[in-house]
Amino acid sequence: MVSEICKIMQNKELAAGIFEMILQSDKIAAAAMPGQFVHIKVKSSSFALLRRPISIHYADKAAGTFAIVYHVVGQGTEEMSRIESGECIDVMGPLGKGFPIFTDKKCAVVGGGIGTAPLLELAKNISDCDAYLGFRNCNYKTEAFEQSCRNVYVTTEDGSYGNIGYITEQLEKRITDYDVIYTCGPKVMMQCVMDICCKNNVECYVSIEERMGCGIGACLVCACKIKEVDGEWHYKKACKDGPVFNAKEVIFDV
Ligand SMILES: Cc1cc2nc3c(=O)[nH]c(=O)nc-3n(C[C@H](O)[C@H](O)[C@H](O)COP(=O)(O)OP(=O)(O)OC[C@H]3O[C@@H](n4cnc5c(N)ncnc54)[C@H](O)[C@@H]3O)c2cc1C
Ligand code: FES
Repeated sequence: MVSEICKIMQNKELAAGIFEMILQSDKIAAAAMPGQFVHIKVKSSSFALLRRPISIHYADKAAGTFAIVYHVVGQGTEEMSRIESGECIDVMGPLGKGFPIFTDKKCAVVGGGIGTAPLLELAKNISDCDAYLGFRNCNYKTEAFEQSCRNVYVTTEDGSYGNIGYITEQLEKRITDYDVIYTCGPKVMMQCVMDICCKNNVECYVSIEERMGCGIGACLVCACKIKEVDGEWHYKKACKDGPVFNAKEVIFDV
């Protein structure tokens, strides 16, 4: 996989520490599938030898652009937040296996916090989709889901927007409406979504986050435990075999 120098069209703060960056790349926009990620090299300082994996939020194939939404948690994402429109960054992608898309099933996406970001491109590609979006104390990009989904349910833990509480409580009330659930977010939330789906016999796909090195299956940094049919487990590479897996295969150490 060859990297590409992409021009930043916009890098805007959506909420405290949450940024949306729009990048120009005909190639990445054309190839992007929901659930895939890009691997970003942050400037050329020696600290940033390792790239940072960030999910594709949406791709605009006509405009030749794609967007990412990221949370500033450390040095790499902090540097990203200071990049200005017109500057360029080195991007590899799209990488990984994304979400399987079903055209004839009733689906819902369930995201928590920054885990809502990869679910927008998926929701745009499903004709019959509801969205469940959970946040702690702020909300962002909910209006974009409203444009693509039939129903959008939002919760915040402090009640500042939508219903107060956890988004899994909203999902549990309506789980029997769905054939397939897709989820991304904190491990505790995804484990709860998986348990609700398992109890109600609903198919579930999970996008997992592991620390990554190469992003292309060569270094084993992203090894994650995956269940076999006989109950045994083995390691798979989150970057190449995932980041999306069927919930039946996933083992979380929560
Ligand atoms: C497939 C994939 C998709 C991702 N998509 C997004 C996204 O759309 N938006 C977004 O904000 N973040 C996303 N992440 C997480 C993002 O890669 C990390 O937050 C980022 O690399 C941190 O870099 P940093 O230099 O700022 O922080 P660091 O200084 O490297 O780390 C700061 C903190 O972030 C945690 N962290 C570092 N790497 C990861 C990681 N891979 N996963 C989880 N936590 C990590 C560390 O444990 C530490 O607590 C994704 C991760 C993966 C694997
Ligand atoms: S990050 Fe190197 S094998 Fe996955």
